[in-house]
Amino acid sequence: MDTFTSLITEICAEEGIGCKILSYGWLIELSRSGQTRHIIGRHFDVNPAAADRIACDKYACYTVLNSAGIPAFEHALFFNPLRRAHLIRGGEFERAESFLRQHKKIVVKPNAGWQGRDVFLCGTSKELENALCVIFQSEPDACLCPFYEYEYEYRVFYVDGICRFAYGKARPPHEWRHNLSNGASAFEITDEALRGRVEALAARAARQIGIAFATVDIARLNGDNDSLSVVEINSGITANKFLEQKPGYWRQIKKIYSEAIGRMFL
Ligand SMILES: Nc1ncnc2c1ncn2[C@@H]1O[C@H](COP(=O)(O)OP(=O)(O)O)[C@@H](O)[C@H]1O
Ligand SMILES: [Mg+2]
Repeated sequence: MDTFTSLITEICAEEGIGCKILSYGWLIELSRSGQTRHIIGRHFDVNPAAADRIACDKYACYTVLNSAGIPAFEHALFFNPLRRAHLIRGGEFERAESFLRQHKKIVVKPNAGWQGRDVFLCGTSKELENALCVIFQSEPDACLCPFYEYEYEYRVFYVDGICRFAYGKARPPHEWRHNLSNGASAFEITDEALRGRVEALAARAARQIGIAFATVDIARLNGDNDSLSVVEINSGITANKFLEQKPGYWRQIKKIYSEAIGRMFL
């Protein structure tokens, strides 16, 4: 049983909630007092459908935050010509090349990506072409972003209006991404003022997309007056990699999942 499933199973056992593991562990069915709820692929039966979809769609999420004036990494959307030809008017690759010329250094990623999978840094037309070829082998859309320089990213766990917990992510040497699955290390945020700013931005972003349970990733940008910017919002909530590195936080993470499960049965 993986860490996530162990946590959920423990909570259910302690709180008298029925717990059935279905679909090879992908789906967990919870039941209490005749009510049934589900957790599917780390997504809890607690968020409005549109909020969950927005969190899973990097371009949609950026669009909502940006239109509300909330600082977020700029994302531009590019369609896979093989799968979305009907949506494309001009040459999609030419449009991508012009985005690269404008920003010089860009990040290319699947619009519905996770865990840093197929996230590429591109500085040349050839690199851009390779990145899009890889992504479009399996994905309907890609996002292009200007490359932002920063050292640290923060992950905030948000449940029902409140930031319950946050940790920092530091990149390993020679790696530019902050995913724990790519070797980044988690650290405690000791600067209380910074934590306050990070949590305030995370709560603003979560509220704007109307999500109840999410993690919000925030970058602390180099220069630029130490400003913060939302990288992405995740509605699939996992702490497996974090707990591998910081097993001492088991109870804290469990409490967060327990709050979310409690909310499912309101
Ligand atoms: N525009 C960007 N500028 C700099 N780094 C980026 C940018 N976009 C993504 N990254 C890096 O790549 C990582 C993964 O990107 P992200 O958008 O979070 O995708 P995923 O959902 O796969 O985690 C981020 O944690 C960050 O370190
Ligand atoms: Mg990410």
